[in-house]
Amino acid sequence: MRIDGKEYRTIWYENNVVKIINQTKLPHKFTIKELKTVKDAVHAIKTMEVRGAPLIGGTAAYGIALATQENHNPEFVKKSAEELTQARPTAINLKWAVDRMMKKLSGINSDQILDIALKEAKEICDEDVQYCENIGINGLKIIEKIYNKKKSTVNILTHCNAGWLATINWGTATSPIYHAHKKGIPVHVWVDETRPRNQGANLTSYELNEEEIPNTIIADNTGGILMQRGEVDMCIVGTDRTLSNGDVCNKIGTYLKALAAYDNNIPFYVALPSSTIDWEIKDAKNIPIEERNSEELSHVEGIDENKEIKKVLIYPNKSKSLNLAFDVTPAKYVTGLITEKGISEASFSGLQKLFK
Ligand code: MRU
Repeated sequence: MRIDGKEYRTIWYENNVVKIINQTKLPHKFTIKELKTVKDAVHAIKTMEVRGAPLIGGTAAYGIALATQENHNPEFVKKSAEELTQARPTAINLKWAVDRMMKKLSGINSDQILDIALKEAKEICDEDVQYCENIGINGLKIIEKIYNKKKSTVNILTHCNAGWLATINWGTATSPIYHAHKKGIPVHVWVDETRPRNQGANLTSYELNEEEIPNTIIADNTGGILMQRGEVDMCIVGTDRTLSNGDVCNKIGTYLKALAAYDNNIPFYVALPSSTIDWEIKDAKNIPIEERNSEELSHVEGIDENKEIKKVLIYPNKSKSLNLAFDVTPAKYVTGLITEKGISEASFSGLQKLFK
């Protein structure tokens, strides 16, 4: 997608380094960062220079390639794989990508290992682009249906950033929106600010602006009243891990939005590539929920009058705070799962029909 009119992906390999858009500086500064070692890749994932389930997966895949570039001793690559997998616990795409890379490299201990690793990492990323594009084509049908009935702007609420910045391109939740916009369907997006890291305000609104899609940032608690007033036609969010029974783990606050949508009879869709499905964990209680540093709550970052990025404390400095990064929305509140293979019911049988 575009930034300042120029097409980008969120990650690519060039001149022996992996390049990423450093998302911790957005929307104030657009900077490309170079990852030269697997440690750089682990750091980028942990500090959220890259974030969003599919992009974390893509970065981990390139992280393995960087490990083989540094040292193709199998023990080093194995240890690197473990460090990458542990960098963030909730998004399953991370483990999925590392496992796929390690399977591909298993038994290869020659000079070709780097080429094979780079090819597989690129394939993981290219596949994600294709899947996200298909999610857009499938999700477009839902937006089109609402538009054909309503005959005026379709208002869509989204939470966090499940846009192209969270993937390699297109996004998951945003892909149907981009496809609708390209088809000339008028859309407007309600963007949840998404405290504490503000991925909605900082990233979703930013990328929608760059694509000239009308959007309005709202405080996280505003969605409910907009739904009661009939100002939300549908919700689309992404996910970090969807269980085979259709339970959806996503950014903290998603569950409350789904409850409000349910109470107001508003369709609540979740968009995801199949790499985000966890076929193993059967009970949502067993999903590892990341708890991040409470400083993300107690401090906010922005730019001052000299255009310098500054961080300030906004809480009493003696107060404790708890920063759980994700929650789980039970399948019963999810209208449907928009995947690369089609739209499924949020249930075991629905997912089985599409994927097994
Ligand atoms: O903590 P983040 O910013 O990595 O969380 C991202 C989300 O929760 C997204 O909604 C999810 O990864 C889906 S991305 C297409």
